Amino acid sequence: RLVERVTLKFFEALREKLLEEGIQIELDSTYRSVERQAEIWDEFEKKYGREYCEKYVAVPGYSEHHTGLAVDILLIKDGRVIDDNDEMIAEREIFAKIHSKLADYGFILRYMEGKEDITGYSYEPWHFRYVGHEAAKEITKKNIVLEEYWGAK
Ligand code: DAL
Ligand code: ZN
Repeated sequence: RLVERVTLKFFEALREKLLEEGIQIELDSTYRSVERQAEIWDEFEKKYGREYCEKYVAVPGYSEHHTGLAVDILLIKDGRVIDDNDEMIAEREIFAKIHSKLADYGFILRYMEGKEDITGYSYEPWHFRYVGHEAAKEITKKNIVLEEYWGAK
């Protein structure tokens, strides 16, 4: 699996911390080539239509999954894999606990609820971006998204 080395190290630490609290997360989608992103785009467009696709899938070439610093997770709950977008969005309580730990491991929730106009994407509780501890703490404390941190918006 292709993930940037430091990102993987801190993801593993986060995963173990959550396991101690009875929450099981696993890596789902990590590094993607531009070709893979194009396949995902096509799959989503066929399955859900263009509008839904544009809210959840980046244009091939413009996804942060190309960097190796982004991870999509899935949940394992009562032995069952939860990897469907809508099902994950419904797991509010579990994701609140997961999100509260992210900054301690250098991650941020990349596509936050209420910031759709700024990020350009819908709420994705499963997509984390490694930015390092210092940036993650500041971004989380200020309740901002990466675009605002960079001063782009
Ligand atoms: N799901 C995010 C937006 C991506 O495709 O990069
Ligand atoms: Zn993602």
